[in-house]
Amino acid sequence: MSKNVELIKYLTTRRSVPLPFLSEPGPNKEELDLILSIGTRVPDHAKLCPWRLIVIQGDARKRAGEKLAQIAKAQKPEMSEEELEVERNQFLPAPLTIGVLSVPVEHQKVVELEQVLSAGNVALNLVHGANALGFAAHWVTRWFAYDPEATAMLGAKEGEQFVAFVHIGTPQTRLEDKPKPDLEKLVSTWEG
Ligand SMILES: Cc1cc2nc3c(=O)[nH]c(=O)nc-3n(C[C@H](O)[C@H](O)[C@H](O)COP(=O)(O)O)c2cc1C
Repeated sequence: MSKNVELIKYLTTRRSVPLPFLSEPGPNKEELDLILSIGTRVPDHAKLCPWRLIVIQGDARKRAGEKLAQIAKAQKPEMSEEELEVERNQFLPAPLTIGVLSVPVEHQKVVELEQVLSAGNVALNLVHGANALGFAAHWVTRWFAYDPEATAMLGAKEGEQFVAFVHIGTPQTRLEDKPKPDLEKLVSTWEG
């Protein structure tokens, strides 16, 4: 691959766009297929595919939000109507969200950490794929990535863990650049 100036620019300036600023249009079927292909083209020791993806789009976004609100209310009856409305909108207004599940398997050589990292790579590659097609994305987890009732409702099976909900849509804002990590502090050269 020869030097790709545009790709370098993208990789050195990429920003997330928060959920409230992701609107229609979202990816069509063909675009979604390409985003999923890019998303799953990740380093994966021993080709285990230790992940699973769940797409939430269309009317299902509202239904998922309503069910989250019900679960939240059952766990915390004191929740206000305003707080419940936040839960109802967890998958809005983004046209499409992809839940990424880490699905580790027993393997002689590939420890669980490596498999979880591969799932994290899927999440980041979905972000890159969405950006490559002109959309924007936001990788979030929130409480419903960890709450057993919520994760089951969203499709996780026993032993599976959500590592990301990648919201995708057309950006309505562009975030300012952010401070770059201090590489002087973070990177050292091993000299023995
Ligand atoms: C595992 C993981 C979980 C995250 N969960 C959230 C979240 O729940 N809410 C949120 O606002 N950002 C979350 N973020 C951070 C955003 O994805 C994003 O990095 C952040 O908004 C900064 O934007 P940037 O990508 O432009 O640097 C999470 C990131 C990771 C890696």
